[in-house]
Amino acid sequence: MAVVIVDGQEIELGDHERLNGIQAARRIGVEIPFYCWHPGLTVVASCRMCLVETGTKHPETGAITMLPKLVPACQTPAKDGTVFVTNSDKVKQARAMVEEDLLLRHPVDCPICDKAGECSLQDYHFEHGQAERRADVRPFTSRRRDMGDTVTLFVDRCIMCTRCVRFCREITGSSELMVINRGSHEEIDVFPGYPLVNKMSGNVVDLCPVGALCDKDFLYQQRVWYMKQHQGVCTGCSTGCSIYINENQDAVYRLKPRENPAVNKWWMCDEGRYSYRHLHSPVRQIQPRRIAEIGNPGGNGHAGERRPHDITVKHFRPMENVEWSQLPRDLSAQLEQVCRDGGRLAAVVSPHLTVEEAYLLCKLARQFDSNAVLALGPVPIEGHDESFPGGFTIHAEKCPNRKGAEAVIAHFCNGKIKTFNELLEDLAAGQIRAAWISGGYSCAWNGDAIAQRFAALELIVVQDMFESPVWHVATYQLPGAGFAERSGSYVNFNHRLQSFTWAIRPPAGVWVEGQLYWNMLNLRGLYNPRTVLREIAATIAAFSAAAGEIPAVGIDMRMNQLATAASNEH
Ligand code: SF4
Ligand code: SF4
Ligand code: FES
Repeated sequence: MAVVIVDGQEIELGDHERLNGIQAARRIGVEIPFYCWHPGLTVVASCRMCLVETGTKHPETGAITMLPKLVPACQTPAKDGTVFVTNSDKVKQARAMVEEDLLLRHPVDCPICDKAGECSLQDYHFEHGQAERRADVRPFTSRRRDMGDTVTLFVDRCIMCTRCVRFCREITGSSELMVINRGSHEEIDVFPGYPLVNKMSGNVVDLCPVGALCDKDFLYQQRVWYMKQHQGVCTGCSTGCSIYINENQDAVYRLKPRENPAVNKWWMCDEGRYSYRHLHSPVRQIQPRRIAEIGNPGGNGHAGERRPHDITVKHFRPMENVEWSQLPRDLSAQLEQVCRDGGRLAAVVSPHLTVEEAYLLCKLARQFDSNAVLALGPVPIEGHDESFPGGFTIHAEKCPNRKGAEAVIAHFCNGKIKTFNELLEDLAAGQIRAAWISGGYSCAWNGDAIAQRFAALELIVVQDMFESPVWHVATYQLPGAGFAERSGSYVNFNHRLQSFTWAIRPPAGVWVEGQLYWNMLNLRGLYNPRTVLREIAATIAAFSAAAGEIPAVGIDMRMNQLATAASNEH
């Protein structure tokens, strides 16, 4: 065990810990300012903001010998006997000088800068800088340089930390960014004809400690102090990156990566980063409807009668609005009627539902029909998994919770997981007479051929965000929630279960899927995913690790199995 001394306090480090001065100081709550260092990138020690005094303590005599010069804490390993002094006059003066130097050439256009409010230069200036600027240099310019599709550079705001350059070299391996010129003329640029177009380009904006690199999507959309930040999980693919959802008044303005060593480290891909726009789409469905004659027992198309197979007929069926408060009773009556007559019910469990919603949907289906067919919804696959030199992978499977939905279905179906295509074959066999279909996809996920299969059923309940051929053949069209509106848990490709709570309220007229299942199961009060997850952990062995509190980085669902295997070995 190594003992490090920071500002007179001893810190014990584990045998295998390899920390630098900044990380060691954090252990006791001492923040050493830094710009160029980032835990996910190589160390260059170029900004000099983290300069500290350092020395060594003699292991036998205990005498401390300090080095005469200041050293960068980011580049100084915290070893047994290392001494750091972070609060001496010498250190404070060095920080003030670095700040003064950086501001000599900085436009200080904070009032119009996107980074204002979360800018390290601003924060450190107030904390470590000098009250007055001594040099009479006023170089205000506002040169802007296009870096690529997603990112723009405000050239004069750059403090040359080179984090962005190292990211493109070390993490994406695409090396689009470089430093041009020398000394005080240095600037960030792209190689002529090679813009910043890699699939993780947005991360350079997060990495930039100042407002030099800005996200075109977010530029001038919102001041950061108006937004609230919520922990979420990206639903763009089965990687399941941990994210922050930044919103104001129920509008999402940006997604940012949330550090999670077990999933995405500090990064996310552009596809996931910009995947929130559909939440605010003007064509989103927000009004529950049903076929008009369904409420009229004497009508031609009420449940219990076969309806025409021609889906075009249904396109023109009159629909009527229905109140959410009416729906649980109304739907229950319809489902009971079909199942009482010996009809088989099928439930399509979307891999966009949370674990808790998938469980409640399966439970609900089995409540009406103890032999209800439970099938996994379509799993969208695009291309191949794509891995980057820095260890990040974008998965081809474009949904967040296939593994979670499968584990739930397996529990209800004795380990057998029916695919969507297998369900379509069952439909053709003619035994199934009603279907509850959950969607939640932001892309097109069904077509006329699939809708034609479902169109023959007596009762079709579709929960989705957007219109689709299947939506048009539905008896009940129920608007569904988007990812930022849900609470619950997803299980990623690597068996990691992450829980999250809603960031924004769904549009007026939309109920999250879980709330409807909750009401139809006659559970009291508001839908509570935490209660449901506890029940799941108690009843499904695969989820037993989720019985307690779920940490922000999630839990490995195999934890209990691994522990059991390890104890069996000993
Ligand atoms: S653009 Fe930002 S991240 Fe890149 S070197 Fe300049 S300050 Fe650093
Ligand atoms: S890798 Fe997948 S989960 Fe991560 S940000 Fe991209 S789309 Fe989202
Ligand atoms: S953070 Fe240490 S020198 Fe830049």
